[in-house]
Amino acid sequence: MQPLSRRSALLLGGLGAAATATGAAGLLWSGGFQAVRGQDMEEPQALTSVDGRLRLTLSAASGKVRIAGKDATALSYNGSLPGPTLFLRAGDRLNVRLENRLGNPTNLHVHGLHVSPQGNSDNPLLAVGPGTSFDYEYQLPADHPPGVYWYHPHHHGLVADQIFGGLYGAIVVQDDRPIPTIRERVLLISDISLTPDGRIAAVSVMEKMMGREGDLVLVNGQLNPRLAARPGERERWRVVNACTGRYLKLRLDSQSLQLLGLDSGRFRVPDDVDEVLLAPGNRADLLVTAQAGTAVLRALPVNRGSLGSMMGGNGPPRSSVGRSGAVLATFTVAGAPVAGMASVPEQSAPRDLRAEPVAARRELVFAMGMGMRLGAGMMDFTINGKSFDPARVDTTVSAGGVEEWTLRNTSLMDHPVHLHVWPMQVIEQAGLPVDIPRWQDVVNVPARSSVRVRIAFDDFTGKTVYHCHILDHEDAGMMGVIESR
Ligand code: C2O
Ligand code: CU
Ligand code: CU
Repeated sequence: MQPLSRRSALLLGGLGAAATATGAAGLLWSGGFQAVRGQDMEEPQALTSVDGRLRLTLSAASGKVRIAGKDATALSYNGSLPGPTLFLRAGDRLNVRLENRLGNPTNLHVHGLHVSPQGNSDNPLLAVGPGTSFDYEYQLPADHPPGVYWYHPHHHGLVADQIFGGLYGAIVVQDDRPIPTIRERVLLISDISLTPDGRIAAVSVMEKMMGREGDLVLVNGQLNPRLAARPGERERWRVVNACTGRYLKLRLDSQSLQLLGLDSGRFRVPDDVDEVLLAPGNRADLLVTAQAGTAVLRALPVNRGSLGSMMGGNGPPRSSVGRSGAVLATFTVAGAPVAGMASVPEQSAPRDLRAEPVAARRELVFAMGMGMRLGAGMMDFTINGKSFDPARVDTTVSAGGVEEWTLRNTSLMDHPVHLHVWPMQVIEQAGLPVDIPRWQDVVNVPARSSVRVRIAFDDFTGKTVYHCHILDHEDAGMMGVIESR
């Protein structure tokens, strides 16, 4: 168990009191950071593969970093928050030297990439100790789907703290057939709570059980940055939800939005949308066609359930977001209109596993219960009754087969379920069929509900994991080991 902060100790005093103390304590501890709003949006450094290769070093360290326009002390890769964006293509080889300059172990995961989970590829089960470095190598298949991906640490027990602290960056796998736009942007959305002197605020046991939500919701490390365009311009926004527990229900009123794809791959034709819901870990590949005026990108409040009355509280998670939502960015469209843009090329139809034979069916039950395993007052977070044990294989699948999984949530909170390496096709939600092939690598399973998915275990063998992407839940044990062989 980690050393108790003063605040956690206070909250552990009594569970009844804890629920009421959380709100007030949040203000006390992180209300005072003097953030700067409204600067022009900056993007992380872009690193692009050349001739099928990209090589870089990511140095994870704690130290001075720019957050919301001010100097703060947090975690970062290469001294910037977010870390660099990696632009790749199908068939590329990516080499990353991870240097660990933190005081704790860490490692690196390339979220959503369809690459081997073995050895020094996307292996979430290895640890890189403090003061050491490790050379990762990822080989993308020649048919790797285009899309928005991201990288972050995956050392069990420290994932939420390290991501909340600032360790994340975007990965883009570019389209073979370019999509005509005037400009492309990456919007990496994260949240953090800072003390008045710019340090990462302590997080209570209660907040961890709910899945912490930071007081500041940042876009590329900035608070309400400004974006500008001319009327008629078509932009491409690649959006990552890198928040540790916050769901983002995104709206950009008075603009016209189309979704090219979610997580990985493309819809056959862009989907007109008013709103996009991104659970933690999800990504959206959006087209924005600019309409004159000023529009605010908002994250509307999302009710993702509660801990239930047995924990002394029924309310939704404490959140700094009011009824109108968090303001993420301001998009100003002015100037001379530009002429209509070339249309978006039609994409090939996504694979539909409903037409393919199923090799096995299984059920994964996501549950929360009163338990003493993690210490007084901490609930147990389990999958099929067990909490994470890296030495145990929970699910063995046959390489090459298609499986149908029922993801069942018996708790009073939503759990966004994530599987490494192999994306999932959602085929049924709360008993209702999903007709259009929808591929995601994070699938939200609402409280007391279930979702059915199909998965094609193609191309790779080896061990990796599935888990809840509310990272405090993952750290608390809601993760299992899968082996494909
Ligand atoms: Cu985004 Cu297992 O992680
Ligand atoms: Cu992942
Ligand atoms: Cu969860």
